[in-house]
Amino acid sequence: MSVVAVVGGQWGDEGKGKVIDLMAGSASMVIRAHGGDNAGHTVVNPLGEFALHLVPAGIFNPDALCIIAPGVVINPESLDRELGALQQRGVSTQGLRISDRAHMVMPYHMVLEQAQESLRGKDAIGTTGRGIGPAYADKVTRTGLRIGDLLDPSVFRERVLHAATQANQFLRSVGREPAIDASAIARQYLSFAERLAPYISDVSGLIADAVDRNSRILLEGAQATLLDIDHGTYPYVTSSACTVAGLCQGAGIPPRAISQSIGVYKAYCTRVGSGAMPSELLDATGDYLREHAHEFGTTTGRARRVGWFDAVAARYSARINGFDNIALTRLDILDEMDSIQVCVGYEIDGRRVDQFPSVASVLDRCRPLYEELPGWQTSTCDIADFEELPAEAARYVGRIEELVGAPADIIGVGPARTQTIHRSDPWSGRV
Ligand code: IMP
Repeated sequence: MSVVAVVGGQWGDEGKGKVIDLMAGSASMVIRAHGGDNAGHTVVNPLGEFALHLVPAGIFNPDALCIIAPGVVINPESLDRELGALQQRGVSTQGLRISDRAHMVMPYHMVLEQAQESLRGKDAIGTTGRGIGPAYADKVTRTGLRIGDLLDPSVFRERVLHAATQANQFLRSVGREPAIDASAIARQYLSFAERLAPYISDVSGLIADAVDRNSRILLEGAQATLLDIDHGTYPYVTSSACTVAGLCQGAGIPPRAISQSIGVYKAYCTRVGSGAMPSELLDATGDYLREHAHEFGTTTGRARRVGWFDAVAARYSARINGFDNIALTRLDILDEMDSIQVCVGYEIDGRRVDQFPSVASVLDRCRPLYEELPGWQTSTCDIADFEELPAEAARYVGRIEELVGAPADIIGVGPARTQTIHRSDPWSGRV
């Protein structure tokens, strides 16, 4: 079987888009399984640079079917915009299929999220503001609207009216203007439906057939393990399941069909939004890395918090997912450093801790314990062969492999597809 899951091993923005794009060219099916337009995958390929939010990166491969699976929450307005932008740049969207089971992000979800974030005050999560949390909350309380509901306008209108009434009640209860207009929402969403309807269907048969045929299926992770609703740094997490198991659930792929799980890690760490990040750099080195690597959010444009590679967190996420191997991205960003620190443990109140804590306030108290490695001060941007890496860079990669417990089979040394060191066939791993 060849179902490969590509999952973020840190707090997102690890460069999953590039890894997925590299593999999508030889995939038969690419499935986006969870999250919504809070995700932003930057893909640089011969057609140019693209920021994808909901459309699977396989869209650039005209022979691949690209599925937005039941576990995703879809904002039809942003999907419609994204499809329009791709089409305008000559990218065919004919291979897209949208599961009728996927839930929708409604305009009131964004309004509710704004109200909830401001009620949280200093404990705000720092969400992307895309209404993702409230959309998943409605799904779990079984009041959500699914994209398949757009295909039955009269039932859809009725359900929007009911949901809008509830949203207005909440807004009134927290002293806000009850400004949700059900008929305007229904009108707007039904106009998107006219363009999206051809893509919407029950995709479960397509996926099951592809599994049965042993087709190459790529499961495209969004966000990352440390933002996972169950295993992440709760409450500073997103609202979906971002692990390999979460992808199976969101896509409807049997877990036994997974042939390989690739964990994507950046050669350093970044995080957007609130929550502890023990190896965060609040100094000139952090500013240098942020500027040099242009660490600003694809979705929100927010400056990302930057830090050294956190091996405690990385090992934890590798274990949760059972990663077979690692894609280590953006190694070139460290090219000019004299020396590089790796966080190999934490200290809490004078005590050494090697396990990633489950409680946010404990993680907040963790101080990083660093191991220093020499830098290489040579450009790695044009290196295609692992053997040609400067010895210090190879040593850095080797230390990360040891600490995480998985081999770095893909190493990114720049944004382009060609700036990648492959140490195995990504579909079969090391044989
Ligand atoms: P939400 O997903 O918008 O609810 O945001 C919850 C947390 O996840 C916030 O800290 C966001 O910054 C973070 N987050 C959500 N999506 C991404 C992503 O694609 N990359 C990095 N962080 C993300």
